[in-house]
Amino acid sequence: MATTHPSAVPPHLPADLPTGLLIGGTWRPASGGARFAVRDPATGEQLVEVADGTPQDGLDALTAAHEAWPVWQAVAPRARAELLRAVFEQVVARVEDFAAVITAEGGKPLAESRAETLYGAEYVRWYSEQAVRINGMTRTAPSGANRQIVLHRGVGPALLVTPWNFPLAMATRKIAPALAAGCPVVVKPAGLTPLTTALFAEVVRAELERRGLPTGVINVVPTSSSSRLVSPLLADPRLRKLSFTGSTEVGRVLLQGAAQNVLRTSMELGGNAPFLVFADADVPAAVEGAVAAKMRNAGQTCVAANRFLVHESVAQEFATGLAARFAAMVVGPGAAPGTTVGPLIDAGAVDRVAEVVAQAVDGGARVVTGGDRPDRSRLAGYFYNPTVLTGVDPSARAVREEIFGPVAPVVTFSTEDEALELANSTEFGLVAYAYTRDVDRVFRVAERIESGMLGVNRGMVSDASAPFGGVKSSGLGREGGEAGIEEYLESVYVAL
Ligand code: SIN
Repeated sequence: MATTHPSAVPPHLPADLPTGLLIGGTWRPASGGARFAVRDPATGEQLVEVADGTPQDGLDALTAAHEAWPVWQAVAPRARAELLRAVFEQVVARVEDFAAVITAEGGKPLAESRAETLYGAEYVRWYSEQAVRINGMTRTAPSGANRQIVLHRGVGPALLVTPWNFPLAMATRKIAPALAAGCPVVVKPAGLTPLTTALFAEVVRAELERRGLPTGVINVVPTSSSSRLVSPLLADPRLRKLSFTGSTEVGRVLLQGAAQNVLRTSMELGGNAPFLVFADADVPAAVEGAVAAKMRNAGQTCVAANRFLVHESVAQEFATGLAARFAAMVVGPGAAPGTTVGPLIDAGAVDRVAEVVAQAVDGGARVVTGGDRPDRSRLAGYFYNPTVLTGVDPSARAVREEIFGPVAPVVTFSTEDEALELANSTEFGLVAYAYTRDVDRVFRVAERIESGMLGVNRGMVSDASAPFGGVKSSGLGREGGEAGIEEYLESVYVAL
């Protein structure tokens, strides 16, 4: 059983942390004056209140972005690149401030929040480098009758709707390519974690101001009522792009809204990642990879390994090894030294995870470690113990649904075909992981797996320079890499 860290740790928020709305270069209160509470998931206590953006505030932000668009488009790519490079350097220099805010509002252990800060900053550096590499094309038409020229330009004002699980990295993954491509943005951060995005936006705003660039290119509107704020924006023809990271359920609703004005969309939606361990795998390495793939942010990532599909000949060794690693983890407030597993985001998340585990156990699964919440007299926030389940029926909710918590269900298979059939038997297709020493098998898996990403003998695939995204109900488009900026560009074909 994992140990629990007993103490709550008071959060240290930076003095310049904004709590208003950023519209047209100015932080201001919400139009109705309302505010909503942001809570620390390690205690359930209120951290601060932030301005509660109204639909009118959202439209004001779009007006600011739309007005900034022609000016921003005309800013030289090199100047956009240098702005982003300066922002990257400031975020890295303030890693402790960003980490403190990420941990305070999202609950991650501080080491993970520092890692998120550097990961998020990498998107800014990468797109500072891509801003000057927006290439066109020219050639003679195959008929020889004329020339073909393709120009690229920014698609226009973009609405970026970001999730709570990576409040910096998911924001920078969208903001940086948008700004690099010449698109002003309206950011709607998750209501549970608006503070990190506000701190980042202030770094960008101040740097724009210092350089005499239009500060209206970045607008941030937190709200307690996302759908009320987002619907009028999607209906407004001045908006030209929507990028969303979140659940498939919400993604479908947003896609319907985006259809009104035929918006360009990038959707990074739900996952149900299979983690395949073949008979020829290095099992101790697979256990380490499984810890990385499952336990980042206490299992609350879209790329979290959700189903452990393990060859029957190594299943016992794998499950025992994984349970030993989970049992050695320290559950506690993210800011407490030594914590390796922080809280889940809210009480509802803990209840859902507990239900999924109970349903698996009712269906015959065995709890090897965990399977419960830590003692609430020691940890008052939203915690759940790292859990390994074996003998899980493939029809269990723990296998079919995205768990978004620290629970690892192990299902066995006997042939490669069966493993791939199980892996692909889901509407989702974001990422898969495979452990094997057989190179031919690596290619067979890569060719047949229905996912946008595959980690081979590793539990982490995320990288600012690589295309992140899924197939099937896991989404549309790619973020990161060369592909990420193309999502914010349109092409103009000139025949002459
Ligand atoms: C996510 O959970 O949506 C993103 C995780 C990552 O970028 O690694």
